[in-house]
Amino acid sequence: MSGDGFEVVSVVGLGYIGLPTAAVLANRGLEVIGVDINERAVSAINEGRAHFFEPELEALVHNAVRNKKLRAVNKPEAAQAYVIAVPTPISESKSPDLGYVKAAGASIAPVLTSGNLVILESTSPVGTVEMLAAQLRELRPDLTFPQDAGEDADVLLAYCPERIIPGRMVTELIENDRIVGGMSLKSVEAASKLYKTFVRGAVVATNGRTAEMVKLTENAFRDVNIAFANELSKVCDKFGVDVWEVIELANHHPRVNILQPGPGVGGHCIAVDPWFIIDAAEGQAPLMHTARNVNDSKPAYVVDKVRELAKPGDTIACFGLAYKANTDDLRESPAVTVVERLAETNEHKIVVVEPNVETLPSRFAGLNLARATLKEALETAQVVLLLVDHDEFKELSAEQLAGKTYYDSRGAWRHLSA
Ligand SMILES: NC(=O)c1ccc[n+]([C@@H]2O[C@H](COP(=O)([O-])OP(=O)(O)OC[C@H]3O[C@@H](n4cnc5c(N)ncnc54)[C@H](O)[C@@H]3O)[C@@H](O)[C@H]2O)c1
Repeated sequence: MSGDGFEVVSVVGLGYIGLPTAAVLANRGLEVIGVDINERAVSAINEGRAHFFEPELEALVHNAVRNKKLRAVNKPEAAQAYVIAVPTPISESKSPDLGYVKAAGASIAPVLTSGNLVILESTSPVGTVEMLAAQLRELRPDLTFPQDAGEDADVLLAYCPERIIPGRMVTELIENDRIVGGMSLKSVEAASKLYKTFVRGAVVATNGRTAEMVKLTENAFRDVNIAFANELSKVCDKFGVDVWEVIELANHHPRVNILQPGPGVGGHCIAVDPWFIIDAAEGQAPLMHTARNVNDSKPAYVVDKVRELAKPGDTIACFGLAYKANTDDLRESPAVTVVERLAETNEHKIVVVEPNVETLPSRFAGLNLARATLKEALETAQVVLLLVDHDEFKELSAEQLAGKTYYDSRGAWRHLSA
């Protein structure tokens, strides 16, 4: 380490989180060794390209590689700090799969040296950084770690969650506040120093377990609040009241801020992370558990509503597959579940319009559905189901939807019935 910071940093896992982090660090003048087991990602990065689309990222990667500040490899090499940003998915039974974190820990263990800092960024159950520390201690008995040696440890360990949003990742990486949780004071200090090389927001210190819980809390909070809106949408349907109007009017209250309902909750954060709490809380998280179930029940509710509206033999046009407007991200998307379930019933002809993706999900293979352009769908469908509020769908006029029955799961077409 030199003066106010680090010279050589390794980022392990070069996906949506790791690559922007590596590129930003490298553009701050640090030497960054990116590690990924995906050869396609490694070659793309070494050619100066990002292997996925994110605004501003390509230029940062290009610049860093050209200036020889960033290179990608498939196996960790010696560095002063290791930032781990590998996937932390959930299994079918909704328990966390920490296999990638363990594999990353095993891969850096042989190259660790005294004075190193290891930071876990992956969204993780409480206690994961301690698990990583225990794993490293077992693999490297010649080094000391904070759980035994406290402030005298050879290797420092910290947990620093990420909260950037796709589409604004590079900006938010720099502007957002960061929570830094260390297993010792020296760990927090060292990790804070690293983040301060590029973060303009506040860098707030705490311990590792608290930092892990903060990240999970943020997404569980969002999930519970969206569940309230989704439940409200069902209740309002029952009472024959427009939920969008109810929310708009209720939000005139100075201390009420209800979120928007939709066809469910998608993306690989909000729909996944609350399970890391529920799984380990031994029954102490019934509200979060119910919220997950409410949000997961919404696609089936939308399917039932649309089936009530459609006559036998009608063509139903489903608008959108992404989990959120104006993206191509299909991960955990409730729109995909809705389309799949509608097609499985085989009662109607299903056409799908999704301008942002090139290939339909593999889950659709063998299902009785077709892809269409917006124009074709408007020409053929009797029923239109709005699943994602992409701009091109929101902009449709009453004339374009004239004579069709439609179900708007996002409240994007309220102006049409005004
Ligand atoms: N994407 C987001 O918006 C976001 C936001 C906040 C937090 N997170 C969390 O950050 C973590 C990473 O998410 P992501 O979206 O970047 O995932 P990702 O799938 O885009 O990237 C992970 C990368 O890790 C690589 N990898 C897997 N095992 C490895 C190993 N042993 N060694 C080296 N590389 C390995 C994969 O090949 C992949 O390129 C997850 O825990 C996620 O929950 C993601």
